[in-house]
Amino acid sequence: MSRLVVVSNRVALPEETRAGGLAVALRAALAEHGGLWFGWSGRIAEETAAPRYHEHEGIGYLTVDLGRTDHAGYYVGFANRVLWPLLHDRVDLMEFAREDYQVYREVNRDLAQALKPRLRADDSIWVHDYHLIPLAAELRRLGCRQRLGFFLHTALAPAALLEYMPCHRELLDTLADYDLIGVQSSHDLASLRDYLTRVSGARPDGAGAAALQLPDGRRTRIGAFPIGIDAAAIRHAAQRARGSAALKRMRASLGERSLIVGVDRLDYSKGLAERFQSFGQLIEQHAHWRGRVSLLQIAPTSRGEVPEYRAIRRELERIAGHINGRHADPDWVPIRYVNRAYPHTTLCGYYRLARVGLVTPLRDGMNLVAKEYLASQDAENPGVLVLSEFAGAAQQLDTALAVNPRDHLAVATALDQALAMPLEERKARWQSAMRVIECDDITAWRKTFLGRLRAAAEAR
Ligand code: G6P
Repeated sequence: MSRLVVVSNRVALPEETRAGGLAVALRAALAEHGGLWFGWSGRIAEETAAPRYHEHEGIGYLTVDLGRTDHAGYYVGFANRVLWPLLHDRVDLMEFAREDYQVYREVNRDLAQALKPRLRADDSIWVHDYHLIPLAAELRRLGCRQRLGFFLHTALAPAALLEYMPCHRELLDTLADYDLIGVQSSHDLASLRDYLTRVSGARPDGAGAAALQLPDGRRTRIGAFPIGIDAAAIRHAAQRARGSAALKRMRASLGERSLIVGVDRLDYSKGLAERFQSFGQLIEQHAHWRGRVSLLQIAPTSRGEVPEYRAIRRELERIAGHINGRHADPDWVPIRYVNRAYPHTTLCGYYRLARVGLVTPLRDGMNLVAKEYLASQDAENPGVLVLSEFAGAAQQLDTALAVNPRDHLAVATALDQALAMPLEERKARWQSAMRVIECDDITAWRKTFLGRLRAAAEAR
């Protein structure tokens, strides 16, 4: 069996104890294939340094420290001030600077050079996410002929929006150097196909709608691979958390009140301002919930170097403060808003305790919190998921209460419905969603992707 090489901007190093489900799944795949994980160490140095290598439990870790200028141009500048907003339809927040784009390209070139000496002829190389779009082009330029797959974890904006990015042709053309390009949903796949055919001039390659040929002869395949979770591991974590001090304190603080929970990185794509407003509408329009329900929003701060993230943080503090100031009682706070990260097990415990999971991004590639919330539930008394129709997960979880997060009144109505939903209906919706979550799980995701990558490279 060929070796697996995973490349991602962040590497979940073995000492990383808060690694999420994706990191755990990739580690399992790497351990199975005796693999290598390559990417940024998460550290910033004066200058980008030579890569460091070490092995742990059969997996090789190859990481580089990024120099200050590289980190600023590649990660903060181009990846997170151009690509991230653009991919989530926020052209208005895109801050394009040609110098950042140059640095992004150079860092990808340097990463390819650092990786190449470590590669073996029969490796399958799986590149993750928007930081590394041109990596395959750089590896091919260095003569690498290995199987190369790319998976985009984020959403993908419609082609008409992608065209607003000044360098879009030059950058997105490099996607065709991958044998397989994977996205989260059929919505994103339609955007990808539209861009590659209409802008890059790709034509169907005989082998069905998934195979494309570029005008210069390069051949690639595209597909939707909705990422999943390890449902059993989440269920066990939620059960384990029940007896913990954190959960006991939480239960005691709630008393008879119901809990609505949201957990997101503090990011403008997550629709947190709209979520707070919607919750405010719930307690205004459905006054019987006043004093009987709290929203726990956990939002660890993220990408603090990026000005747009500092702005959203200030805005959320203002809105939460306003709603709490207006509605709170001495013994009841409507919104419990915390900017800290919690151990994953504790989060699963909170999910299980919450009557409602509120997942309302304005745009999201998949959103694994939606799936983890459901997998954490008690089968005999499950909670209800209120889910944005703009999360990739909405395509699969069609028994959740679907909402448009910009329609605050409609979200408030869905919350009212969720809080009052009879047990039989909750069970039926939950069971139906869990069938999908258990079948399309994280193992199925990686096996399907790697199988399709092998087939795509054979057809090359
Ligand atoms: C999203 C991206 C990931 C990224 C994560 C955390 O999920 O798809 O690639 O690692 O956010 O963001 P950060 O910038 O802290 O790595």
